Amino acid sequence: FYTKSHVSWFMICAVHAQVLGNESPVNSVFKFKLSMCPSTEANSTCTTETNPLTLDPPEVIGRYDDIVMVNCTTSYDFHDKMYWKVGQADPIEEEEISFVTLPLTLSNWSLNAKCNININDSIECSKNLEITVYKLPDVVSVVGPDVMVEGTEYPLVCDIINVTPLQNLNVKWYRGNETVHTQIVSGTSVTPVNVSLTLMVTAGRDLGGAHFRCEVELIFGANGPEFIPTATSSPYTAANLKVKWYRGNETVHTQMVSGTSVTPVNVSLTLMVTAGRDLAGAHFRCEVQLHLGPNGPESIPTVTSSPYTAAVHCEFLPIFSLM
Ligand SMILES: *[C@@H]1O[C@H](CO)[C@@H](O)[C@H](O)[C@H]1NC(C)=O
Ligand SMILES: *[C@@H]1O[C@H](CO)[C@@H](O)[C@H](O)[C@H]1NC(C)=O
Ligand SMILES: *[C@@H]1O[C@H](CO)[C@@H](O)[C@H](O)[C@H]1NC(C)=O
Ligand SMILES: *[C@@H]1O[C@H](CO)[C@@H](O)[C@H](O)[C@H]1NC(C)=O
Ligand SMILES: *[C@@H]1O[C@H](CO)[C@@H](O)[C@H](O)[C@H]1NC(C)=O
Ligand SMILES: *[C@@H]1O[C@H](CO)[C@@H](O)[C@H](O)[C@H]1NC(C)=O
Ligand SMILES: *[C@@H]1O[C@H](CO)[C@@H](O)[C@H](O)[C@H]1NC(C)=O
Ligand SMILES: *[C@@H]1O[C@H](CO)[C@@H](O)[C@H](O)[C@H]1NC(C)=O
Repeated sequence: FYTKSHVSWFMICAVHAQVLGNESPVNSVFKFKLSMCPSTEANSTCTTETNPLTLDPPEVIGRYDDIVMVNCTTSYDFHDKMYWKVGQADPIEEEEISFVTLPLTLSNWSLNAKCNININDSIECSKNLEITVYKLPDVVSVVGPDVMVEGTEYPLVCDIINVTPLQNLNVKWYRGNETVHTQIVSGTSVTPVNVSLTLMVTAGRDLGGAHFRCEVELIFGANGPEFIPTATSSPYTAANLKVKWYRGNETVHTQMVSGTSVTPVNVSLTLMVTAGRDLAGAHFRCEVQLHLGPNGPESIPTVTSSPYTAAVHCEFLPIFSLM
């Protein structure tokens, strides 16, 4: 007595209620009416309450190029056909089944898929599958100035290349093993984009040997991957130069210079002195010490300039090349 479209709604409901089995007929009919039987004015629209389709998983969040399986199940076996529609592709229609499984390859940034059921010639229900395709960045790196002079603020920039979606991106800055800042990125994206974020640091004694990293996380809700997709930059390590100015055998000024240059750089520092009688014949020297933090060499590499008489400029060449 199952003849698809020739069966009236009332009959379909009654038949289904019997098929439901173990439960008492009264309960079954009642339950079925609540969930399935449209009122008499039902037309081709399918309300949330009458939609017999369930998607499992209800939402797809997957890495680009992943293949996921999605089940579309109908709570109701009597229908003309059910099928998945993905993009513009022609669907494969199935009859007399209670579920259709879709193997979905996430190789398109803007995929759309929906499951359809034709209950009879005039009632069609569908359910859209929410799809999020994510990609961890190809590169995460921290760049900072070659040279930083004590007491001044400088930007460290976290460059993130080819990541999506921005709306789920969370960036954490670490100094050593400690989180020093968390940035939530604004904006949205579907296809991969580049992002640069800045952390301001103040150059100072304590910067020497400090490791800075930035870490990218893609945070999704309950339907997200089991482990938070994460990518971390290699550390940016600032070396410190301690520059001591001597007048004769006396230290008159100490300055700290930080930086991360991997290749040698040239730095010039200036000591201002007031011209006066006492300056005549005074010998000025500057001494440079390379401070590499707790893991640096035990004896601090030191270079001293030859003395200058009444000059105020100090230049030195050998510099941080120690990464
Ligand atoms: C489909 O079901 C609706 C709702 O009960 C009914 O009004 C309509 O006549 C049915 N169409 C066909 C072709 O059976
Ligand atoms: C379908 O039914 C709804 C609610 O009963 C009504 O608002 C809508 O206009 C109807 N649509 C058509 C195409 O008949
Ligand atoms: C889809 O659902 C059917 C019926 O519940 C089940 O047998 C099958 O294993 C499911 N497939 C997947 C991929 O979940
Ligand atoms: C991705 O999907 C969209 C929407 O279905 C379609 O228009 C587009 O052509 C697809 N792109 C590729 C590369 O398949
Ligand atoms: C970071 O490392 C230091 C020393 O290695 C340790 O004492 C501290 O507990 C660590 N902190 C965290 C948050 O792991
Ligand atoms: C991101 O940066 C990479 C490398 O600099 C570049 O090749 C790519 O075109 C950029 N992508 C966008 C969307 O700007
Ligand atoms: C600095 O030099 C002067 C004269 O050469 C000497 O008297 C003095 O003890 C020295 N001071 C130190 C700290 O070495
Ligand atoms: C540093 O100065 C020396 C001497 O003037 C020069 O040969 C060298 O190229 C400079 N290095 C850099 C990185 O500018």
